[in-house]
Amino acid sequence: MRYDFDKPTERLHSHCVKWDTLKDESILPLWVADMDFEVSQPIKDAVLRRAEHGIFGYVAVPPCYYDSVVGWFARRHNWHFTSADILYTTGVVPAVTMVLKALTQPGDGVIIQPPVYNCFFTNVKNAGCRLVENNLVYENNTYHIDFEDLERKASDPSVKAMLICNPHNPACRVWSREELEHMVAICLKHGLAIVADEIHCEFTYGEYHYTPIASLSPEVAKHTVTCCSASKAFNIAGLHMANIVTVNSEWRERIAEHLACCEVHEVNPFGVDATIAAFNESEDWLVQMLDYVYGNYQVLKEFFEKNLPHLGVTKLEGTYLAWIDCRSLGKTSDELVKELEEKGKVLLNSGSIYGKAGEGFLRVNMACQRARLVEALNRIKPYLE
Ligand SMILES: Cc1ncc(COP(=O)(O)O)c(C=O)c1O
Repeated sequence: MRYDFDKPTERLHSHCVKWDTLKDESILPLWVADMDFEVSQPIKDAVLRRAEHGIFGYVAVPPCYYDSVVGWFARRHNWHFTSADILYTTGVVPAVTMVLKALTQPGDGVIIQPPVYNCFFTNVKNAGCRLVENNLVYENNTYHIDFEDLERKASDPSVKAMLICNPHNPACRVWSREELEHMVAICLKHGLAIVADEIHCEFTYGEYHYTPIASLSPEVAKHTVTCCSASKAFNIAGLHMANIVTVNSEWRERIAEHLACCEVHEVNPFGVDATIAAFNESEDWLVQMLDYVYGNYQVLKEFFEKNLPHLGVTKLEGTYLAWIDCRSLGKTSDELVKELEEKGKVLLNSGSIYGKAGEGFLRVNMACQRARLVEALNRIKPYLE
């Protein structure tokens, strides 16, 4: 089926975080990471069918749910695991905290790579652990890993886990196999558990391809827990369904205990049916959406090159979130966001929420109709000149 991503959508007054929490309705929200696109027809049909049933009691997640997850990753990403390796929960954010709680002791160090998804900071703190930051290095509009610093930090005996964002939000990087192998070699050498947040795994462009960390080798798989979902790729985050995958049965049992103990092991019927429809029947929608979003990135990049050449657009290998280097303006990210919101009437994410390493950057959610993106770019231009 052909989908029209230019088709305008109206999200105001739909009780959504992105549009319905703004200071005024004239603001264009290009912040929180969900998309302004309607979902695929099979997902819509599945949710409507479930709604039509009219009874919404407690859910027993069916075998066909697990089959849809296993089948998708095997087919699309050549990552092979079984239904028994999967636990489910209400989101990737709670999944990461539960995994960290299960695999660490209070006070243990957990490595993250800022600038990184803001919830990673709270994941580590909520798990009772200590943040250990292996900052990414920004050069020529892209990021790379400081492996020497990583090795030094991983060798501290109080550091017990590394939380890897693969692909990386907001660095726009799709880690290569070599980079992942280098990271996991350091983790294995120093006995660190590898916690992989792979929620952005479907968003890769051109020559860049997602490598599931747990697929690197059976040895790596034993030391890795992957948190993923259909939610980001198929725009169903509000349905709250996510997976925790590990072949390590002892770790899985510990994680399952934490899910039960923290009461995050009950999901809702819409999330289950939507995920099945996403993984089994919506690949065509995904492929077209990716093409469209990459087109948006090209428009944004050209816009900055032509109109705001003093600002750096980070090279987009993955995610649908542009990351703009505004450091030459000499203002903080928060000051810029405030000005763009109040005067330009566009809401972006401040780089500062992704750690000190994000200071001076802005994050732009490009998963919207192209006309809306262009309107937002024109609105913000005078304040970034
Ligand atoms: C890296 C990363 N993990 C997790 C999430 C959110 O996960 P969930 O909504 O399933 O809790 C996001 C959302 O932007 C994200 O970027």
